[in-house]
Amino acid sequence: MLSSYILQILCISLVQCRTIYLELNSPTLDEVNFLLQYGYLSKDLAGVGYTYTSQSISEAVKKMQAFAGLPQTGVLDEPTKQLFKRKRCGLKDIDEDSHARNRRYIIQEGWNKREVTYRLLNGSSTMSKDRIERLLENGLEVWAPHGNLHFTKLDEGKADIQVYFASGNHGDGFPFDGPGRVVAHAFPPPLGDIHFDDDETWGVESDISEDGEEDITDFFAVAVHEIGHSLGMSHSNVKSSVMYPYYQLPVDKLHVDDILGMQELYLNVKGSEESEGTERTVGSSQAPRFTKTDSEEFDDAPDLCMTNYDTLQVIHGKIYVFEEEWVTVLRDRNVREPGYPKRFHELFIGLPSSIKVIRTIYEKHDRNVVVFSENKYWEFSPSFRLMRRGSLTDYSIPDNVTELTTVFISNYNNRTYLIEEERYWRYDELTGTMDEDYPKDMSTWRDVPYPVDAAIVWKEDTFFFQGPRFWRFDNNLVRAHEYYPLPTAQIWFDCESNFEMTYYTINDGP
Ligand SMILES: *[C@@H]1O[C@H](CO)[C@@H](O)[C@H](O)[C@H]1NC(C)=O
Ligand SMILES: *[C@@H]1O[C@H](CO)[C@@H](O)[C@H](O)[C@H]1NC(C)=O
Ligand SMILES: *[C@@H]1O[C@H](CO)[C@@H](O)[C@H](O)[C@H]1NC(C)=O
Ligand SMILES: [Zn+2]
Ligand SMILES: [Zn+2]
Repeated sequence: MLSSYILQILCISLVQCRTIYLELNSPTLDEVNFLLQYGYLSKDLAGVGYTYTSQSISEAVKKMQAFAGLPQTGVLDEPTKQLFKRKRCGLKDIDEDSHARNRRYIIQEGWNKREVTYRLLNGSSTMSKDRIERLLENGLEVWAPHGNLHFTKLDEGKADIQVYFASGNHGDGFPFDGPGRVVAHAFPPPLGDIHFDDDETWGVESDISEDGEEDITDFFAVAVHEIGHSLGMSHSNVKSSVMYPYYQLPVDKLHVDDILGMQELYLNVKGSEESEGTERTVGSSQAPRFTKTDSEEFDDAPDLCMTNYDTLQVIHGKIYVFEEEWVTVLRDRNVREPGYPKRFHELFIGLPSSIKVIRTIYEKHDRNVVVFSENKYWEFSPSFRLMRRGSLTDYSIPDNVTELTTVFISNYNNRTYLIEEERYWRYDELTGTMDEDYPKDMSTWRDVPYPVDAAIVWKEDTFFFQGPRFWRFDNNLVRAHEYYPLPTAQIWFDCESNFEMTYYTINDGP
């Protein structure tokens, strides 16, 4: 039996060499090493000697093909052979120690803070330190808005993200491999460092088109990818994402897949449940899910994943989502409070049973909760005891306004915004007066859609919701952040991606 195997020595790293047995007509050692290095072939086989059958190699090749977006033939056809030779990032694609195989992307920890420092220790042999520094800064700015991160450059001392160029063995146990193949690698937080292979000829895209002879590697494209790792992102199998492991041009903006990863890492950075430290995913199958089959009791309750909610609001630190006569409470994004959905009449005792829909709701500075429906409101104590009721005119809103779509308190100026479809009023709760010169037109909130279904302040960020999408609003710039909207169902309601996801992917062009 042994006669059909060939005995070879394989070095997984400089210090770890193993004897392995390969079947004849199998991949080269370099190719097996590739499969091992990027997590497609398991190192965790019993014993000192590794035996790989053609079947286990074929399984590994299929995984590699799937991740790269090639047909899963399981054989080393020409497109697959090409992949072994392509320039790429040195980090793993699949973490074989986790259950990550079936997940769309793995996410590790992020920085548990918003202020992150970086330092460039040296430039490459082909590009000056100044030039590299500017491109690095641009690369950091690509990611910054999605984590609400702020990057500061240090010129000395130890920064969170230390960046340098080196060749071959450079002391971290992950030697570079000369020109081509691995061009860079980076370490996730709390390490954060980024290393570029100085045996590559680094340049910028314009150098590449001018000079076809030399094999120039675009620094910016690689930097944006590696910065992603330094912020906690893992490789993605989405080909047009920045976190796709193989080098490709151009890199000019993030893909929605990259943005979703950042949302998962940083949207909750101030939350208490942040410190679990394991990877999290969007659409993890372990999390509770909103579907009609979730529990027979809730057969009548609507499916939040359809994003037909009437409104949602943060009340006493939790997210209340209203749809028809139902309310679902979320303890956190994507985390449902047990016992929901409930009929909202069970919560708001004293609300007339003729009220079939809560159009908007908000929590006042004194923690009282005000429910709006048509041109009336009901105010409840923090324990939801009915305190008073009245009509919109009590807020000095003209009596011909029949309904408000959204009410919320801005964390920017503590004013209460009362939004009709296309205009809004600003009310000062502390003095009980309407601010002058209102109503104003909703178009003053640039890039925010109207009529809005909801506006909330969550962990110090302001978000606007309309149907299946939401926007993050920049209070200082008075406009929505770039890269929004994003799909509400996946990011807030823990739903699988659906046709909306496709919509965003298709519309990802400039
Ligand atoms: C850059 O700095 C690193 C770390 O100090 C060092 O290992 C490397 O050799 C330097 N590279 C160049 C090109 O000077
Ligand atoms: C509502 O009344 C105000 C005056 O109080 C008037 O300016 C406005 O045009 C009216 N709006 C509608 C929709 O009738
Ligand atoms: C808003 O009001 C809260 C108390 O209700 C206070 O703690 C906070 O400092 C105020 N913020 C501003 C910007 O006035
Ligand atoms: Zn990478
Ligand atoms: Zn390194």
